[in-house]
Amino acid sequence: MEKEIRRNVGPIILLGPPGAGKGTQAKRIAEHYGVPQVSTGDILRENVQRGTELGVQAKAFMAGGELVPDTLVCDMVADRLRQPDCERGFILDGFPRTAAQAGWLDALLEHEFFDNTQRGRCLPIVIGIDVDYNQLLLRLTGRRTCPTCGRIYNVHFQPPRVPETCDLDGSALVTRNDDREEVIGERLTAYQLQTRPVAEYYELKGRLVHVNGDLPVDKVTEQMFREIDSHSAASSS
Ligand code: AP5
Repeated sequence: MEKEIRRNVGPIILLGPPGAGKGTQAKRIAEHYGVPQVSTGDILRENVQRGTELGVQAKAFMAGGELVPDTLVCDMVADRLRQPDCERGFILDGFPRTAAQAGWLDALLEHEFFDNTQRGRCLPIVIGIDVDYNQLLLRLTGRRTCPTCGRIYNVHFQPPRVPETCDLDGSALVTRNDDREEVIGERLTAYQLQTRPVAEYYELKGRLVHVNGDLPVDKVTEQMFREIDSHSAASSS
């Protein structure tokens, strides 16, 4: 597919349960449209690994499959979105995840992004990825990630050519700490209780579109590109 890196894309919000494919699709959207992936999970994990103050505060919540408190995550997102590479647009992967985060994001976009002609002015598009529950379990238990380049694999669906080894750089693949069965249950519960209301929030504002996330990765990507293209065409007309 041809790359689309000329015009403003605006904020793209990927919404879906753990294992829905947010990270997988965000990387493809980032590559195609030339806008950065802002993954709150990745930024938090990096902070935990580096032992920063934020990482120390977030660690126990993440290990137990609970959400990290809103104030910590919102400050972190604000810092990231103010970076110059977010000017044409950005992909939010894993944020917002509570109704409070969604309201906070709307206020931030209103005050800092849409008033400033230097930044992308499209309204956010919110893409809900719908996936069957049993499929989610297989995806989470089978996920492996490259610690060097971040590429995501799955032992059931997208295995590496050599078992447990990254195709791109030969690093040994790792299993995420929170992809253990007992933590996966907590994460899926947190999604039902705290993140489902975010979908309702955007549905009421008429901003939510759905894609069928049960399909193979390429088919999901095709649906995403179609939705993003029609949204940005409508926003710029
Ligand atoms: P986070 O890192 O955001 O995890 P998550 O939402 O649980 O989502 P995942 O990364 O598990 O799944 P994904 O949808 O990205 O799927 P992926 O593409 O990898 O958050 C982790 C923790 O950080 C949270 O629990 C919380 O503690 C904290 N946190 C983060 N953000 C926060 C926030 N805003 N507020 C508070 N706390 C926050 O795919 C999964 C697998 O499926 C892979 O193996 C992939 O290869 C495979 N796959 C993907 N698509 C397909 C397909 N179409 N067909 C077959 N296989 C597929």
